Amino acid sequence: MPDLDLPQRQATDALMLTGFWYRALPADRVHRNQLYKATLLEIPLVIGRDRLGQPFALRDACPHRGMPLHCGKFDGENLECGYHGWQFDVHDGQCQLIPSLTADQNLKVDRIYAGSYGCEEQDDFIWVFIPDPSPTGAGFVPRTEPPDPAPQIEKFTGKYKLAYLQAEMPVSIDHGIIGLMDPAHGPFVHQAWWWRTQHSIHEKQKNFEPIPYGFRMSAHTPSSNSAPYKLLRLYADADSITTTIDFVLPNIRTETIRAGKYWFSSLTTVTPITRSHCRIDVVAAWNLFRWVPFVPDLLKFVFAKFVEQDRRTMELQAEGLKHNPHLMLIDDADRPAKWYFQLKAAHLESKRTGTEMKHPVPGPVTLKWRS
Ligand code: FES
Ligand SMILES: [Fe+2]
Repeated sequence: MPDLDLPQRQATDALMLTGFWYRALPADRVHRNQLYKATLLEIPLVIGRDRLGQPFALRDACPHRGMPLHCGKFDGENLECGYHGWQFDVHDGQCQLIPSLTADQNLKVDRIYAGSYGCEEQDDFIWVFIPDPSPTGAGFVPRTEPPDPAPQIEKFTGKYKLAYLQAEMPVSIDHGIIGLMDPAHGPFVHQAWWWRTQHSIHEKQKNFEPIPYGFRMSAHTPSSNSAPYKLLRLYADADSITTTIDFVLPNIRTETIRAGKYWFSSLTTVTPITRSHCRIDVVAAWNLFRWVPFVPDLLKFVFAKFVEQDRRTMELQAEGLKHNPHLMLIDDADRPAKWYFQLKAAHLESKRTGTEMKHPVPGPVTLKWRS
C-alpha cells in the first residue's frame, strides 16, 4: 500500500537567505558617535550612528589586516582602525587615509573599501541589508545598494504607539520560523490561568492565499483566544474585528487587526544570527489605549509572556535537536511550515536559474486544525 498518509519527513537546512534586509539592533540602544557589535547571518558587523544620528553598518574587519573595526576610534564621521590607523567613511566604507604612506607613494587610497552594508532605521530598529555573497564591498569594490527600502509596519493613522520585544533562541532560523507560524502549539505552550487552558482547544478553519514571496491568512475574525483580540473586544463589536496575517520571505510575519477606527499592527522577524542561533523581534504599533496609561503595559506584559514561553520551548527543543533526529511535518497544522520550506527552495531555484519564482501555494486553500 502506498503510504500516502504518512507524514512528510522534513530536514531543516539552516541555510540563511542573502539579498534581504534584517533587523540588527534596537534603535534606542545605538547612540551617536559610538560603535556596537552585532552579528547577522554569521557576519560580524560594527554598527553605529554618525554625529547627525544617521546609522551605518560595516563589516567588523579592517580590509588591511582584519583588525575588528569596533576596536577602533570613531569621531562621528570616520572610523580609524586601531592597528595602523587607516580611516574609513562609515557610510560607504571608502578609505580616507593611510597614515603610513609617504608623499611620493601614490597608492589610490579612495579605491579601497571596508565592507559596508545598506543600513536604515525603521520602526525602532536598525536594519541592515545583507547582499548576496561575492563582492560584498571589502577590498576594492563599493557596496551593493539595496533594491528596496527596509520593511515597515503598516500604520493606519498618524498617531500611534510603538513597542518592541526580543528573545534569543538557540535554534536555527528554520526552527525559529516554523515555530512562529505553528498554529498547534498554542494550547500546550501558551497556557495560563488568566489566559486559556488546554480545554479551550477547538477546531479551526482558515483560508490562505499566495502573495508575492509568501502567503496570507485571509482577513477573518480573529480566533477568540488571540491576545490583541481579547483586548480589542473591550473597544469594538466582535464581528467588526478582522485580522490578516502574512508571512513573507525571508523571515517576516505581519499581523494587522482592525476594528473600526482602531488598529493594531505588528511586524515580527526571526533573524539568523548564526547557523544555530536566531533572535525573534516583535515590534507592534497600535492606536488604541494610547491615552490609557496602563493598557500598553498590559499588552506588553502579555506579549512578553508569550515570547518567553516560545523562547523557553525552543531552548528545550534545542536539546532534542542536538543529535539530528528525523523530523516530520503533518497536514494541515504544519502546512504553513511546508510552504516555508517550499518558498525558500523556489526562491533559491529562481535565483539559480534567473527565472521567475514558481510559487508553491497554487491558489486559495483552506486549512483545518484544532488549537
Ligand atoms: S589592520 Fe586596520 S589599519 Fe591595519
Ligand atoms: Fe508561540
